[in-house]
Amino acid sequence: MNQTVLDAIYQRRSIRDYTGTPVEPDKLREIVRAGSWAPSGLNNQPWRFVTISRRRVIDQLAGLTRYSHIIKGAPALIAVYLDRQEMYNEVKDHQAAGACLQNMLLAAEALDLGAVWLGEILNRQTEVNQLLELAAHYQLMAVIALGYPAHRGQKSQRKPLAELLINEI
Ligand SMILES: Cc1cc2nc3c(=O)[nH]c(=O)nc-3n(C[C@H](O)[C@H](O)[C@H](O)COP(=O)(O)O)c2cc1C
Repeated sequence: MNQTVLDAIYQRRSIRDYTGTPVEPDKLREIVRAGSWAPSGLNNQPWRFVTISRRRVIDQLAGLTRYSHIIKGAPALIAVYLDRQEMYNEVKDHQAAGACLQNMLLAAEALDLGAVWLGEILNRQTEVNQLLELAAHYQLMAVIALGYPAHRGQKSQRKPLAELLINEI
């Protein structure tokens, strides 16, 4: 069996430290494309993206979160949005955004990049939209910080399956 997807799922870790090497625009676009191939209810594809490599904008966004050190150290960011004008169901469209984000993290892993899903910045979503000159119908879902990992092999924990699997009927 081809293990590529499972390998990426198990090997992916949130990477918060990056080398100074810039992320190639083609790779950023590939990650966005992978996000766009996530499933969505009625295939409505409510997600929208802003890729950000300009240092001045990255530094301004860093000022809007307590994770500023992660954003400042990242050569690139991708802001992931829901377009509220394209939505049909509050819960299902948010689920689709989650699927989209996970696709993007796995794509980053496949492209030898390291990435982290940043949610805390949602507390300042109005200011993020102002900075990116986006209308209010774009609702921020997350900012992904990414770059080439400064180090790998980071550990993470998961609850044992016995705690998660309620039943096997
Ligand atoms: C909805 C969501 C919000 C998150 N927000 C942040 C954040 O603001 N800052 C951060 O450093 N990591 C954030 N993370 C990353 C988690 O901390 C990380 O996925 C978790 O600790 C498991 O570690 P792993 O991804 O390396 O397996 C977020 C992840 C998710 C799914």
